[in-house]
Formats: sequence, C-alpha cells, structure tokens
Amino acid sequence: MTGSSKPAKLLIVFGTRPEAIKLFPVIAALKADPRFVVRVCVSAQHRGMLDQVLEIAGITPDHDLDLMRPDQSLDALTAALLTELGKVMDAERPDRVIVQGDTATAMAGALAAYYRKIPVDHVEAGLRSGNIHHPWPEEVNRKIIGTIAALHFAPTETAAAALLRENVDPTRVHVTGNSVIDALHWVTARIAAEPMLANGLAELEARFAGKRIIGVTSHRRENFGGGLEAIAEAVRQIAARPDVAIIFPVHPNPNVRRVMDGALAGLANVTMIEPLDYPHFARLLAIAEIMLTDSGGVQEEAPALGKPVLVMRETTERPEGVEAGTARLVGTDTARIVSEIFNLLDDKAAYEAMAQAHNPFGDGQTSRRIVELLGHEIGKQA
Ligand code: UD1
Ligand code: UDP
Repeated sequence: MTGSSKPAKLLIVFGTRPEAIKLFPVIAALKADPRFVVRVCVSAQHRGMLDQVLEIAGITPDHDLDLMRPDQSLDALTAALLTELGKVMDAERPDRVIVQGDTATAMAGALAAYYRKIPVDHVEAGLRSGNIHHPWPEEVNRKIIGTIAALHFAPTETAAAALLRENVDPTRVHVTGNSVIDALHWVTARIAAEPMLANGLAELEARFAGKRIIGVTSHRRENFGGGLEAIAEAVRQIAARPDVAIIFPVHPNPNVRRVMDGALAGLANVTMIEPLDYPHFARLLAIAEIMLTDSGGVQEEAPALGKPVLVMRETTERPEGVEAGTARLVGTDTARIVSEIFNLLDDKAAYEAMAQAHNPFGDGQTSRRIVELLGHEIGKQA
C-alpha cells in the first residue's frame, strides 16, 4: 500500500471484560498505525466489568450499545446484539470487522458483518474443547466465528491445528500468540510505574498475613445450579483450614451471587469482594499461592506467572497449560477440588512441580503481529 492510499476502516466489536482485556493492546497498536482508522463499538453485554477495563486502558468507545440487562438470557441478548450491531455496521460501513474470542457479542458481531459481506478477522481463533456443551455456549460461538472469519489469529500451534482440521484455508491461519500476554505485560509495567494502581488489597493482605492465599473465580454458565453449589461447598471446606485465606472476587451474575452468598457469607477465612479491576486482579495473581477458577483467561495468565491453577471444568479448550504442567482440570466435584487443593498445600514437591513459570500463550508481541498481518492483508487489496 502506498503512503497516499486511503486508510482501511476497522470496526472493533466487543462487549465483556475478557474481550476488552485481550483487545485493548490490539486497539492501541492499530491506532498507532496510520494505515488504519479504528472505530470501537462496545455492546456493553457487560457493564461494570467492561467499564473497569475501558477506564484503565483509556478507551472511549465510538459506539456504546449499553445492552446489558440483569440476568439476561442468551436469546434476548443475541437478538438485541444482532439488530443493534447491524445498525452500527450500516452507519460505519467498515472495511473489516474484528472480534475476539467466543462471547455472544463476538458471535453476533461476526454474523452481522457476514450478513453485510464485510470481512471478519478473529483474534484468539481455533480454541476447541470438542464438546459443544463445555464451554457452553462458547464452543459453538467459536465455530460460527471460525466459519465466517477471513483471517484467523490463532494463539498457539494447537489452536491453528484445530482450524486446519476443520478445513480452514491454511493461508488464512496465523499463529500470533495470545494478546492476554500483551495485556499482562502492559499492566505489570503500569503497576511498577504506579504502585497505587494496585494497592487496594493492602488491608486484606494485612488481615491475612501469614495465611496461604487462594484466589477463586467462577462464572461458567454450564456450572450454574449444581456445579456452582459443589464449588461453593469445596470453598467452604477448604476455608475450614486455619492456615488458608480465600479471596473471591464474585462475578455479578445473579446466578453466581445467589449460590456464593448463601454458602460462603460470614466465613472467617473467606472474603468475597466485587470484581477487581485489572491491576488489582494482577495483584491477586501475584499474592495467591494457588488459583482455583473456571475462567478461560485466568488459565492463560496463571501459567505465565508460575501460579498453579486448578481448573473447575471437565474439559478445556486451552490444553496448553495442562500440558505444560501449570494447570490441572479438577472438574466440579467437591471432594476432588478439596483433595487437589490440600495436596498442593501439603506436598511441597507437588506444588513446586506445578509452580514452574511456563508461558505457552505468547511473548507479548501478539498485537504487533496482528497489525503486521492486517497491514499485509489491506496492502493486497489496495
Ligand atoms: C459472558 C460470556 C462468557 C465470558 C464471560 C466473561 C456469553 C454468552 N458469555 O458470560 O463467554 O466467559 O462473559 O465474564 O457471551 N453482570 C453485571 N455486571 C457486569 C457483567 C455482568 O451485573 O458487568 C450480570 C448481569 O446480570 C448479566 C449477567 O451478569 O445479565 C450475565 O452476563 P452475560 O454477559 O450474559 O454472561 P456472563 O456469564 O458474564
Ligand atoms: N479479571 C479481572 N478481575 C476479576 C477477575 C478476573 O480483571 O475480578 C480478569 C482476568 O485477569 C482475566 C479476565 O478477567 O484476564 C478473565 O475474565 P472472565 O473470567 O470473566 O472470563 P473468561 O476468561 O472466562 O472468558
């Protein structure tokens, strides 16, 4: 593309906390490149948790659809997303649409773009568990986006291989690493420069001094009901140990809050707190001895930091941490979760074997690679 060519207009669409975390480094890199005009549309499928990331990343969206409703259903959310994202695309008429991951927003964004014959590029492409019910509905969301996408930015070779097995054109699949590592590097540097950004846990840290901290997060839809109750009971049993303290930023989904409030309120060694902003969550990762989670992103961050992560799922579309030995699948059975945590707490060798910093998810250069690949792509079309 020559210096005089018109810049390509990119519409970046996202709606939840993890998409915002994984896209802010990509947005910053694209905005710094004069070959692109970047427009940001948030569905606000999440509200407070999205805004926390927008604020720390300094992003002001060009479009904010403000779609979150309390306890929203998948069908109402998806219908609203498709209609409203379509209107934004009609107004903006972007050259390309970029989506990340596997949420309802990402899937509807890809579909609305496809209905307008706008090419879609997919960040964090190719994650597959092989089970359409775990994670639900994300496995199917990813497959839909994978069918539509023009460029597939796969975080790892494993993810790229999954796409090739689905007969995706190999020239459209690029291994870029996962931009969560870019985000983690960025936030770590920000905290080093400005420690105040992450000092809000100081009181808790003082209260739990001398105790072994376990960080917990849980929000998966497939765990609603019995799964979450079993997880809550496991946390209750773990917290009965006097040497342990649990810090649990609770997802605001009412299905999660109801169960956790009922089972864990008032326990001396458990602190349930509001979702942490990204610098404070990075701080929690730093002070925790173990992470217990059903989150996707935390499965990627914990291995990068050498923190053993026990994953409360039956399968994972992120096998790399398990293969590297820093992550272990423990399902949602109470007795299994408790015994795996106790084993790590009591067996130093078992702990050390898992606490090896290993980062299968990239080198922090993912955003730069994505910009290069997109630049090449628009250059071909100029
Ligand atoms: C969504 C994504 C999931 C992703 C997760 C990350 C879908 C179908 N699910 O799940 O893939 O792993 O985000 O957290 O796209 N809520 C608030 N404030 C917020 C956010 C949520 O109150 O800032 C409450 C609301 O009551 C909302 C509910 O949580 O209705 C569920 O939000 P939703 O985005 O539908 O689902 P998640 O379970 O968060
Ligand atoms: N996270 C955060 N504050 C919290 C909990 C998580 O900033 O209180 C970050 C975490 O570092 C990770 C992302 O949110 O980058 C994961 O989001 P979530 O677990 O909601 O979604 P998933 O990754 O499972 O899709």
